Amino acid sequence: DAGSGGTSNGTATGTPIVVGEFGSLSGSESTFGTSTDNGLKLAVNQINAAGGIDGHPLTVKVYDDEGKPDSALTVVQRLINQDKPIAIVGEVASKLSIQAAPACNAAKVPMISPSSTNPKVTQIGPYIFRVCFIDPFQGTAAAKFAVNTLKAKRAAIMTDQQNDYSTGLTKFFTQSFTQQGGTIVANPSYTKDDLDFHSQLANIKALNPDVIYVPGYYGQVGPIAKQARQLGITVPLLGGDGWDSPKLVEGAGGAGQALEGSYFTNHSSMENPDPAIQNFVKAFKAANSNGEPDALAALGYDAGQVLADSIKRAGKPADGDYTSEAYRTKLRDAIAATKDFPGATGKITIGADRNAVKPAVVLQVKGAAFKYVTTVNP
Ligand code: PHE
Repeated sequence: DAGSGGTSNGTATGTPIVVGEFGSLSGSESTFGTSTDNGLKLAVNQINAAGGIDGHPLTVKVYDDEGKPDSALTVVQRLINQDKPIAIVGEVASKLSIQAAPACNAAKVPMISPSSTNPKVTQIGPYIFRVCFIDPFQGTAAAKFAVNTLKAKRAAIMTDQQNDYSTGLTKFFTQSFTQQGGTIVANPSYTKDDLDFHSQLANIKALNPDVIYVPGYYGQVGPIAKQARQLGITVPLLGGDGWDSPKLVEGAGGAGQALEGSYFTNHSSMENPDPAIQNFVKAFKAANSNGEPDALAALGYDAGQVLADSIKRAGKPADGDYTSEAYRTKLRDAIAATKDFPGATGKITIGADRNAVKPAVVLQVKGAAFKYVTTVNP
């Protein structure tokens, strides 16, 4: 019957359970959305091939928010009201998660952000989770790397002023860098629509920093790097997870060009020999015509796996309804209780503040690849 699950040959054949997803499948951060979606779908396909949730397959209903805050809220409201998802996965960009999370929290629909790192996201309420670390840690990791490895004493920072992620990392990097005795010599800002960064960079050049921290998204980081080199700035650039895109290097003039040798902090390295990571890389390539996964894909995958594991731990709803308020509350508690889950980005434990506590890695741009440099533990 339609209400109960069933399995045949290991494949789930029961009534589907809808998982909502919102992301930037188009727009200037489109690789964030598509990578995450590919990762989440891989998780869901594996879960369904193994019998689904008590015989019910998971099905992903995804909406494109085009990277725009207004659209993020609109599509999440549509998901909640029309699609009745068990939970919602998204967004990548903190700014968009912050826009949409209040609607999820008010409707008591658990939301799991795969990769939003700004602290404000999960502070919105008890139904909002993430499977990644947060920016006070990421900004500190970058500042420690700048001081200890790059031997930087003077840093400049370029901030995307309208992006919570960028302003947050600027603050946390500054705190840590100055605490370690360093000086921030300049902190000019830009916006997402800017194409010309020469005037900010000329000011920075005159102040002679040892490193330039650029906590932005790949679409602007490439051109910033290119223009910095055109002005004769040779010091390394340092960034955060927002650099992680197959389009990063292209925007900087190509492999071996403006970003060669620069560094950024990220969630995981695909070179990590940990079997959980290598199994993911292998499965992702097989499912995506040999395309390499990035950290976004791994985090999308982990969001799906943690959700499925939490649904299993929450147990079967007595009335068969996986979307009732009573069931979603049970599911919320199960997500909150996630402990040592072996994800494709490492072990995931959800803390009291609904954030995951995990190490960060530093990667270096070498040609078109991002090479593992070191791990920074919390
Ligand atoms: N952490 C970024 C944010 O909060 C999003 C991001 C995550 C981008 C991972 C790239 C890789 O806005």
